[in-house]
Amino acid sequence: MRRYYIGVDLGTSAVKLLLVDEKGEILSSVTKEYPLLFPQPGWSEQEPEKWWSACREGIKELLNGYDASLVAGIGCGGQMHGLVVLDRDNNVIRPAILWNDGRTSEEVDYLNNVIGKERLSELTANIAFAGFTAPKILWMKKHEKEKFDRIARIMLPKDYINYMLTGAHVCDYSDASGMLLLDVKNKRWSKEMLEICCVREDQLPRLYESYEVVGTVKRDVAASLGLPEGVKVVAGAGDNAAAAVGTGTVTDGACNISLGTSGTIFISSDTFGVDPHNALHAFAHASGGWHLMGVVLSAASCNKWFCDEILKSRDYSGEQADITDDDLGRCSVFFLPYLMGERSPINDTDARGTFIGLSMDTQRKDMVQAVLEGVAFAIRDSFEVARALGITIHSSKLCGGGGKSPLWRKIMANVLGIRIEVPSAEEGPGYGGAMLAMVGCGQYESVAQCAGDLVSTARVIEPDPAIKERYEERYQKFRRIYPQLKSLFPELK
Ligand code: XUL
Repeated sequence: MRRYYIGVDLGTSAVKLLLVDEKGEILSSVTKEYPLLFPQPGWSEQEPEKWWSACREGIKELLNGYDASLVAGIGCGGQMHGLVVLDRDNNVIRPAILWNDGRTSEEVDYLNNVIGKERLSELTANIAFAGFTAPKILWMKKHEKEKFDRIARIMLPKDYINYMLTGAHVCDYSDASGMLLLDVKNKRWSKEMLEICCVREDQLPRLYESYEVVGTVKRDVAASLGLPEGVKVVAGAGDNAAAAVGTGTVTDGACNISLGTSGTIFISSDTFGVDPHNALHAFAHASGGWHLMGVVLSAASCNKWFCDEILKSRDYSGEQADITDDDLGRCSVFFLPYLMGERSPINDTDARGTFIGLSMDTQRKDMVQAVLEGVAFAIRDSFEVARALGITIHSSKLCGGGGKSPLWRKIMANVLGIRIEVPSAEEGPGYGGAMLAMVGCGQYESVAQCAGDLVSTARVIEPDPAIKERYEERYQKFRRIYPQLKSLFPELK
């Protein structure tokens, strides 16, 4: 039977919507941008109402020219960790504080040092990072007490969209994992963490697996969007788990790298496991299993920043055109990509972007190359943590805007020394969201079965032994730079 599914990727720069048919073919796609606010250095906010109006406009546009009565389900993958707070009358109390916001260093210190990393890890399988939701709740309590007291509902970004669509206050386990309030192993809220953060369970969403149906689109919303009655909405997932579904990264040990605003390395696992040093996050997966993940806060956003703001150029591929295979591993400029501080593995909100190694013969293209390489080296830092845990990675899927660059793909393959596979549908989280909706609507029995049927590899990039060797040497130099600068960064503020 002909059926359509809508996949939503609620990103940091834009929402990307996909209309997918029951065979997994992408029929149309729409992108709607919204502003990112930096009210103070290191702070990052967005207005949830803007997400919702972008989604509404986007869905209407997406359905243009298609028989909307065939839409059966909607699934959303969303930027993780953002704190969205609503009052009793469903008004948004303040702009959402996003995953790459660094204002909570005091709260992170309190959680990691007073409550203690060991206790946090026992309770939630993770330690505190500035971007996580719990420290933001504590920040609000301290700095915005009147607003904090009005909180009736706490939710994550994509849960706000699901709430507006269905009226259900719900969350899935993959996204809830990043709040530092979830007992990830047992998939339930941690009563002790709720107490530590002064949160009541009735303020938190009900928990579901990502592929479970949480409600149907409300009648008035459906009418205004041109949707039929009874369209099912699944819980959806954090964007990285949704991207992993979309790239078919659902089997034990499978790896996905995303080069989006953030850069992530995501290792799927059938069993629950924690990195004893908590450098990698231990979260639930949208497939029903778990994953380990390292997160570089600024990835494709470094390239976007360098091209847009510094070079004043929108021609990203043109800027990379003169960089040849011979240049790879031979650039004498290094770039630390810590434009918003850094999460994995260094957990340092004070760290900042740095070019080092410039000389009179440094050219524009060298600096472009250094930016791409700096992000790849930073991802390699998390890759090394996984390796030290005894995890062997021979290949990885690659998705996200940065993954569209053939040069960046080659750099990733050679810096990591692994085979890179580019899936046929590169729209990771949006496609994953549509797949979760398919499972929820009974089109497939499981996420694994859906991925097995729908996801294929379009391109494979193997590392080149000579380039890989050159990058090995460069990486060993790269990893010495941050420790030398670490104590200086707080003084440079
Ligand atoms: C993951 C993380 C980012 C955001 C980006 O922990 O913070 O990847 O999800 O949208």
